[in-house]
Amino acid sequence: MRDTGITMNNSGIEKKIELRKHFLGKKDNVLDMCCGDGVMYRECYKGKCASYMGLDLLGGRFAQNVLKYDSIDFVNKNGLYGCNFIDIDPWGCFNQFYNTVMLAEKKDALKIICTDGGYYSAQKKGFSKQNYKSSLYKYCLEKAKEQGYTLDDYICLNEQKMFYFGFFIRRL
Ligand SMILES: C[S@@+](CC[C@H](N)C(=O)[O-])C[C@H]1O[C@@H](n2cnc3c(N)ncnc32)[C@H](O)[C@@H]1O
Repeated sequence: MRDTGITMNNSGIEKKIELRKHFLGKKDNVLDMCCGDGVMYRECYKGKCASYMGLDLLGGRFAQNVLKYDSIDFVNKNGLYGCNFIDIDPWGCFNQFYNTVMLAEKKDALKIICTDGGYYSAQKKGFSKQNYKSSLYKYCLEKAKEQGYTLDDYICLNEQKMFYFGFFIRRL
């Protein structure tokens, strides 16, 4: 597994569901880059989007279009596979996944949902939660700008040391 500053607990399920429901629309094509055994598929995506593709290094085959695959390798090889709604819910930090998505292909608009556990180590370096939250926003904004997108409708939720956020980016 990639070294993303791993913390292996799947917490904040309620917040994760709330975020996905806020951003998801019937016409969205979902690429779930860390689909696990399908909790988000069952709670949020099943029957609620135009298409669903799930990837996970360890995941089970809970639906059609679910592959046991490193999703960073997958996106590097296949691009975003026609998807506009990208779900990034790894152990640890979202950065590597987000950067790969940003470099994959240019779209008119993307909805992106992320989980980040980087505060576990940032706290030891003296970051407050508020500073860490701001740094996540700045990071997403900068990377989006570099690729010619503006960032809208950004929502960030926090539970203990985990941050869950979603946003909409579109071409200028
Ligand atoms: C916190 S769990 C989330 C699972 C699921 N989204 C859920 O809510 O139940 C993190 C998942 O990310 C997967 N994962 C980590 N790195 C990955 C990678 N490079 N490619 C695909 N899956 C990865 C792990 O196997 C694990 O199932």
